[in-house]
This record gives sequence, C-alpha cells and structure tokens, in this order.
Amino acid sequence: MFDAQKFIDGTVEELKRRISGNAIIGVSGGVDSTVSAVLVENAIGERLRCVLVDTGYMRENEIENNGRLLKKLGLNVLIVDAKDRFFAGLKGIAEPEHKRRVIGELFIRVFEEVARRENARYFVQGTIAPDWIESGGGLRDTIKSHHNVGGLPEKIEFEIVEPLRDLYKDEVRMVGKRLGLPEEIYERQPFPGPGLAVRILGETDSESVRIVREACAIVEEEIEKAVMNGQMKRPWQYFAVLLPCKTVGVHGDVRMYGTVVSVRSVESLDGMSAAYSKIPHSVLETISVRITNTLKDAVSRVVFDITNKPPGTIEYE
Ligand code: XMP
Repeated sequence: MFDAQKFIDGTVEELKRRISGNAIIGVSGGVDSTVSAVLVENAIGERLRCVLVDTGYMRENEIENNGRLLKKLGLNVLIVDAKDRFFAGLKGIAEPEHKRRVIGELFIRVFEEVARRENARYFVQGTIAPDWIESGGGLRDTIKSHHNVGGLPEKIEFEIVEPLRDLYKDEVRMVGKRLGLPEEIYERQPFPGPGLAVRILGETDSESVRIVREACAIVEEEIEKAVMNGQMKRPWQYFAVLLPCKTVGVHGDVRMYGTVVSVRSVESLDGMSAAYSKIPHSVLETISVRITNTLKDAVSRVVFDITNKPPGTIEYE
C-alpha cells in the first residue's frame, strides 16, 4: 500500500540534499507539476522559480486561472509568453511524433533561457511513471513521446530532477491531498503537456486551435453541468478532438462543408488503460447541439468515441 506521508518526507529530504542552488520547474497547473512544485518548494523554498509557459495551445483562460491558483499556493510563478515560437515551430508539421519532438524541444529552450537568467542549474519536471513507460527506450516500444521525456533534446544545459518519476497518477493525487492542496487541483483531469496541439490531428493553425479550444470548453462545461445535476459521475478525462476530415452539413437551406469533432471521455485509474465513458445520450446530444451551434461556421458533425485503451490511446496523437 502506497504511503503518501512517507513518500513526502523521504522526497523532501532527498531534494534538500540534491538541490544545492537555484532551481526552476515547468508548471502547467496540472496535478503532476503542481505536486512536484510544492514538494520542491518545501525543500528549497525561495530558491525555486515556477515557469508557466503559454504555448498558445492551452485551453480557454487556462494560463490566467492556473497562474492565479499557483500563486495562491505561495509559489513563485513566472508566466512566459511563447505563443509565437510554438506556432512558428509547429508550422507545417503533421506527423504526431515529429510534433511531440518539436514541442519537447521548444519547451526545453524556453526553460534554458529562464534558467540562465535565474542562475538555476536544476530543472524540475513533473514526469510520472506512465510518461516514461509510454515514451519507450530500451526494450520498450514508443507508444508516444511524452513532451517531458521522449521530446527532450539530446543536449540540455541543466540537471533534470523528477521527484514523481516512480509514481502513478492515483498515487500523485494521494500525495497532493496529503500536501493539503485544494481538491480542485489534486482531482483535476489530466491535460497533456503538448496541449491542444495533439488534439488537432495533423497540422495546426490558429483556426483549428480556435475550434478545438471552444469544443473542449463545451465538452468540459456540459459534462461538469451533468455531474452537478446528478446525471452522471465525473469521468476520469473528457475533451474534444478535431479530426482531419470534412463532411457536408446544412443549416436551414444553406449547405456547409465543415470539420468533424470527436468527443473523447474515459474512465481510468492511471492512464495506462482506459474504458470509454458511458455518458447518457441526452448529455451527448446537448454537447453535439452546442458545438454545432456555437461553431456553425466550422463544424458540421460531432461523433462520440467508443474505443477503450487498448487499443485506442486516450489522446489521439
Ligand atoms: P495516452 O494518450 O498515451 O495518454 O493514452 C495517457 C495519459 O497521459 C496524458 N498524456 C500526456 N501527458 N505529456 C503529458 O504530461 C504528454 O506528452 C502526454 N501525452 C498524453 C493523456 O492526456 C492521458 O491522461
């Protein structure tokens, strides 16, 4: 049985011994990076700087809300606007693993610049066990290169510290709870580091980001509403994906030719395997109607994904 308090005590002691100067950590507001940041902050205090990168592929209001939340926890947060760099870096790139490598490298270059300015030799990441298991290496096949593992470039200027490397998601949540973090953080649904870029299949551009951001917000809002109304229990993860195909639609008597949004919602414990969520049809219908009404100009069809993992990974790329 995993003992969260024992893990916290042992990890904070080890971090105190290991980190002898300034450190930075890449934070997103998600459970893994926030728990890592609080553990390191407990060990080295003011010497930790938390870097929240605005990649341009974040969800609606995510940077503002998460920045506020992290500062409320007493963390020393720096928000870096890297939207233009990420858009430029991903221009014309369609292959999922290529996208992930480019994103991983862009993140690291931003962190290196901050580390230089902050005189930090240590770089903390919220990597957890499934991230490096799925990223392959050795005898393992690469399922997908998580931005913080397989996406790392070969030459890096700093020493990487990963306090949650051996933990699974459910254990990270236990540690978060034990650390006294708000439930809003430790029970938060996962969001991948590469963000909406891996929820737009193929090449991304500002229009596809606009569509998937709006669709993701609608899926989250409608599912959360249904949970509040007692229509269903909160799924483990729920979002929208923009498929790279177009279908014909009609509004009134006007033809349109729009893209397809897939609604993905799963139940899981640690993300290693998953079952699709049995969402009531009335909730799915509300989501579909709202997406096709709000994105009238762009989306002609909404589909619901009924694939378990295996074989279908949770994210599509
Ligand atoms: P998959 O898609 O591999 O995802 O079934 C398993 C869980 O991991 C999340 N995920 C990521 N998280 N960096 C992350 O921090 C990544 O590159 C990444 N890719 C997938 C995914 O959202 C799911 O919860």
